[in-house]
Amino acid sequence: MKFASDNNGPVHPKIMEAIVRANEGHVPAYGGDDLSRAAIEKVRDVFEAPEASVFLVPTGTAANALILGSLTKPWETVFCSNFAHIHVDECHAPEAFTGGAKLTPVGESIDKFNAMELRTAISAFSPDNMQQSAHGPVSVTNVTERGTLYSLDEVSEIAEVCRVAGVPLHLDGARFANAAAALGCSAAEMSWKAGVDAVSFGATKNGAMAVEAAVIFDPARAAEFRRRQQRAALVFSKSRYLAAQIDAYLTDGLWLETAGEANRLAALLEAGIEGIEGVEFAFPREANMMFVWMPRFRHRALMEAGAYYYIEAGELQGDDPHEPLLGRLVCDWSVDEAEIAKFADVAQSARP
Ligand SMILES: Cc1ncc(COP(=O)(O)O)c(C=O)c1O
Repeated sequence: MKFASDNNGPVHPKIMEAIVRANEGHVPAYGGDDLSRAAIEKVRDVFEAPEASVFLVPTGTAANALILGSLTKPWETVFCSNFAHIHVDECHAPEAFTGGAKLTPVGESIDKFNAMELRTAISAFSPDNMQQSAHGPVSVTNVTERGTLYSLDEVSEIAEVCRVAGVPLHLDGARFANAAAALGCSAAEMSWKAGVDAVSFGATKNGAMAVEAAVIFDPARAAEFRRRQQRAALVFSKSRYLAAQIDAYLTDGLWLETAGEANRLAALLEAGIEGIEGVEFAFPREANMMFVWMPRFRHRALMEAGAYYYIEAGELQGDDPHEPLLGRLVCDWSVDEAEIAKFADVAQSARP
């Protein structure tokens, strides 16, 4: 009953096999090998963007911080949601990698903002006021940090505000595949066709060992990326092993297969616990992650039975068995359906 994170799951066997296949002899380092070139071409193919600049990095934080570093001047502000990973979970890497740019949370809700809220946030900074931040990039996350989705229309509306303001739009796609599978759209539709300028294209949470692709559609905007990557100590010399992962991930649609499976398993988990007394979903489950209010006694029974997941609000220790605590449940492709059934069973049969 392991539902703590899609980072906690195993590497997909096809990706592990690809790493082992790449482990043969000497090849040029630093991206000069055939496999690295082929993997980058594959990313361009999947995004239908033959001109895009693509860089392989080992973590999502690296992709976000290096892309934002390339798109942002130190005196600009990046607009993002209240709970954006770049804002609350990257220990100021975006601020550091942009040379001190500010991050400005947009809107009321913690998972998403809309075009109108973005327009209001941008208009609070006057381009003529030299004492304020200048307008910088906008960053959205899809799947959002609260497990919800931006629809393609919502992204297009945000992109239009960006176009009018003259700022680029970045997409944190740590769970890009889960969003694409849930929305039933292509990588191009989810990104540049909707007006996105740069994507942190995640793979690690969805079956890879450690690789994400930073995709910047206009190469002119990517001119500094490689130097920033070197300066940040984020150039992987044996790049064939990053490339092997991305190559296998994008071969025969594996990325959509694993994401679709993770989403399906999350839907099963949702169906298993919804309707149980005291169970309430804090956000609609739209992909592979959900946030669930449950009384303390149900959480305790689950933990005692071996379930592992994070409590996001409230304490497991406490006197009132009925006090609602917020749990975060995430599925990756490898979750066992029997474990889902067991989780639902324990949650249902728990007693205060
Ligand atoms: C939305 C989002 N963006 C970025 C990241 C960063 O990933 P990493 O831990 O690989 O730096 C995560 C990881 O949890 C995430 O959830």
